[in-house]
Amino acid sequence: MRTQVGIIGAGPAGLILAQLLHQQGIDSVILERKSRNNIEGTVKAGILEQTTIDILREIGVGDRMNREGHFHDGNYFQFNGERRRIDLKKYSGGKQVVVYPQHEVIIDLVNARYANGKDIIFDVEDVTLHDIDTDKPKIKYRKNGMDEELICDFIAGCDGFHGPSRQAIPDNIRKEHLHMYKDGWLGILSDSAPAADELVYANHERGFALLSTRTPILQRHYLQVDANDDIANWSDDRIWTELNERTKTHDGWQIPDGPINSKGIIQMRSFICETMQYGRLFIAGDAAHTVPPTGAKGLNLAATDVKVMARGMAEFYQTGSNDLLDRYSEICLRRVWKAERFSSFMTKLLHTNPNLDSFERGIQLADLDYYTSYEAGLTMIAENYVGLPIEWEK
Ligand code: FAD
Ligand code: DHB
Repeated sequence: MRTQVGIIGAGPAGLILAQLLHQQGIDSVILERKSRNNIEGTVKAGILEQTTIDILREIGVGDRMNREGHFHDGNYFQFNGERRRIDLKKYSGGKQVVVYPQHEVIIDLVNARYANGKDIIFDVEDVTLHDIDTDKPKIKYRKNGMDEELICDFIAGCDGFHGPSRQAIPDNIRKEHLHMYKDGWLGILSDSAPAADELVYANHERGFALLSTRTPILQRHYLQVDANDDIANWSDDRIWTELNERTKTHDGWQIPDGPINSKGIIQMRSFICETMQYGRLFIAGDAAHTVPPTGAKGLNLAATDVKVMARGMAEFYQTGSNDLLDRYSEICLRRVWKAERFSSFMTKLLHTNPNLDSFERGIQLADLDYYTSYEAGLTMIAENYVGLPIEWEK
């Protein structure tokens, strides 16, 4: 089989890229390891920043998000039992975020792909990359027990942190930066009423808590726990008690609770791979970088990476120029490092642990006070949270 762009992975990066390319008349084939049901049912991200909202609208998949998403103009930071609102819209020049779950984005993108008359090859195995430093790179894989080969002009590695694409860049060319956190996030989905009108990010001596939402009857909340903790240690009762303890305010407010229908613990890491390009291979999204979830940046970074990639490929097919493609890594990494910075900043600002000495804890509280009350602090949080622009210029 032959195509212009062979895309490995049908996550947000791969599917948004396919749609951007289709709009430019560029053909692609998507290879996905999992089944359609699996990718459409996995609960992950919740918050899309303005930059991603704009991209989804531009590629014609924004209708359901516009109708069913919950658009927020602000969020709350809580510490010392006091909740302070950050007016994201005011301090970012009118931008917003939307609560619209990642799997709904995936459903919309898969439907758009089929509406274009294009396919996604699900349930592929043993994907390997070949000849990426030539102008005819190949992807080999197995489907239904048969060996298959896809010859491309370009390969887009959109296969997440554990996929094979990043590893195809030779070791001596790849520079990787990894930072692991000893804290993890316990995430729940519960059949209950929303806890607040906007998200609550709470710093508490017992640890961080985040109150988020999905629909008026389904809520998504998170607790900072030890990354190696076992979910079996967390009964529903213990989770609600801890969430209430960490988010309680001076006025005795309580979170509306209900049956918890899913719970799990995820690890947190900050990771960047420099470079994001080798020969005709371009990697994007979690394949190239991961962030701790506190800044709500992962999916959003995936979307902007592929926006840069698609524009570079369109320029190549229209004019034969490699100029933008040659700058792919540099343009993306400028924004990636800033989002990594913000995610790391938010994680350190909001998470606590018993090893902090009283000086470090005092500094953390002073930071929280500063960033939630001074114009410069509010602006820094707002403009990063709604998403920084892509810096195209040198
Ligand atoms: P992925 O979503 O990982 O997709 C990669 C795809 O490639 C997968 O479908 C996988 O099956 C496929 N694949 C892997 N290996 C192969 C192979 N060998 N062959 C073929 N296919 C393969 N981000 C935000 O922006 N906002 C948030 O609010 C937010 N909250 C989060 C909360 C949690 C609890 C978690 C876990 C993540 C959160 N994120 C958030 C991060 C976000 O979910 C990820 O950054 C996002 O999924 C990255 O998209 P991607 O397409 O790069 O990779
Ligand atoms: C959600 C996830 C995040 O990482 C975040 O910062 C805010 C909300 C969520 O899943 O709703």
